[in-house]
Amino acid sequence: MQTLPPWPYPHLVAHRGAGTLAPENTLAAMRVGASFGYKMVEFDAKLSQDQVAILLHDAELDRTTNGRGKAADQPYAALAKLDAGLWFSAAFRGEPIPTLEAVARYTLSHNIASNIEIKPTPGLEGLTGTAIARQAKHDWHGASVPPLLSSFSLAALEAAQQEAPTLPRGWITSKLDENWRQTLRRLGCVSIHLHHLLLNEALLNDIHAGGFRVAAWTVNDPTRAATLLRWGVDSVITDALDLISAE
Ligand code: G3P
Ligand code: MG
Repeated sequence: MQTLPPWPYPHLVAHRGAGTLAPENTLAAMRVGASFGYKMVEFDAKLSQDQVAILLHDAELDRTTNGRGKAADQPYAALAKLDAGLWFSAAFRGEPIPTLEAVARYTLSHNIASNIEIKPTPGLEGLTGTAIARQAKHDWHGASVPPLLSSFSLAALEAAQQEAPTLPRGWITSKLDENWRQTLRRLGCVSIHLHHLLLNEALLNDIHAGGFRVAAWTVNDPTRAATLLRWGVDSVITDALDLISAE
């Protein structure tokens, strides 16, 4: 039985800021998340063409902004003019794509913990892992609770490890092969972030016995969230802020 690494994070984490209750990956979403009492947010970060770290889930701008094409093909000055709220509803008209720096300021000043999912534009995995880890190290310097860096991309996690070895890392996966322990060890991860349907109590105990924390995503059914928490999952990442109480 290995000792578990520190986990200074709440059990409940608001997915993409406020799940589906506000435009994802915006500061407006984070304010909604905070209004539901959530003390930790997960969000997706990638790079503009000139390597400014911004929040955006997709490689393309089309679904969640009034822009077109890949975010990685445009300088930040162009991305800053886009509307990332109107696609969701008129009430959020004019909400910008936030920079990671602005999100650091907001979360730190509101005592909200951050799970930065490094979501590289395909082909830019290493560059994105390095740049986001560097920015996180700078922006969260001296913070009492460090941001948790996570990614599906092993190359991004490896780059983050090189750049900011002391920041905690989690590997996100929706498939678990027999090498998961080696992968977590090699990347120096504190946690594995599993699609919640992969989890059962025995597997959770096994992962804990190996010395790793477990986050489950994206859990929107309150009964399932309660079951996972009863089993001892370390964090549940959810869209259902209105159904799953943060307290
Ligand atoms: O961090 C876990 C979860 O956010 C991964 O899925 O596609 O919502 O970023 P996705
Ligand atoms: Mg995500």
